[in-house]
Amino acid sequence: MEFDELVKKRRSIHYFTDKEVSDDDLLHVLEAARWAPSAGNNQPWRFVIIRKPESIEKIWETTTDIEVPISSKRTIKVTPQNFMKQAPVVIVVCTDTQAYKGKQNSIFADRFCIQDSAIATMNLLLAVANRGLGACWIGMYREDALSKVLNLPATIQPVAIVPIGHTQSKEQPRPRKPLNELVHYESYQSN
Ligand SMILES: Cc1cc2nc3c(=O)[nH]c(=O)nc-3n(C[C@H](O)[C@H](O)[C@H](O)COP(=O)(O)O)c2cc1C
Repeated sequence: MEFDELVKKRRSIHYFTDKEVSDDDLLHVLEAARWAPSAGNNQPWRFVIIRKPESIEKIWETTTDIEVPISSKRTIKVTPQNFMKQAPVVIVVCTDTQAYKGKQNSIFADRFCIQDSAIATMNLLLAVANRGLGACWIGMYREDALSKVLNLPATIQPVAIVPIGHTQSKEQPRPRKPLNELVHYESYQSN
């Protein structure tokens, strides 16, 4: 697929069929993630692949019981990411928080670890779409619980949960703000 077409065709997919994702497809999308740029080429991304339904169920559980304050008096409960349980495979993208230790850019480690791993996730999502598969970035999870489920060392932080599968979903493109609301020339504000 042409790049411009791919960028617009990719979308967050919330429905998956039963069909397995092949190891070949999986390796292909991980390869795309591995080729992402990173600060100082430190490549802090790490990937945990989960295929066992009972393990996916445990990951799903980390998206439950999340309460978000919406005012000083009210909280709302976030809807758990139920569609994740349909996916035949889930990739949890993580970052090695120690990857910048001892490097000249180490003072920016917190920033770079998340940014690098987010770019790798985006490469992965584009590769998924290019392969005719569907995926969704899930950012709403209880981090401590997820780290525990995946048995992550203390230095490894989860960045995104990405369920991947075949899909017949006809999800429409979600609206985008027009460029004139987003772009500023020379300076954000005029003096
Ligand atoms: C950082 C991040 C976190 C997200 N978290 C969730 C999530 O927890 N659940 C979900 O269904 N979608 C999640 N999404 C997907 C967005 O809702 C989606 O990208 C957005 O609505 C635009 O739709 P599109 O991806 O189809 O273009 C997340 C996306 C990003 C980039």
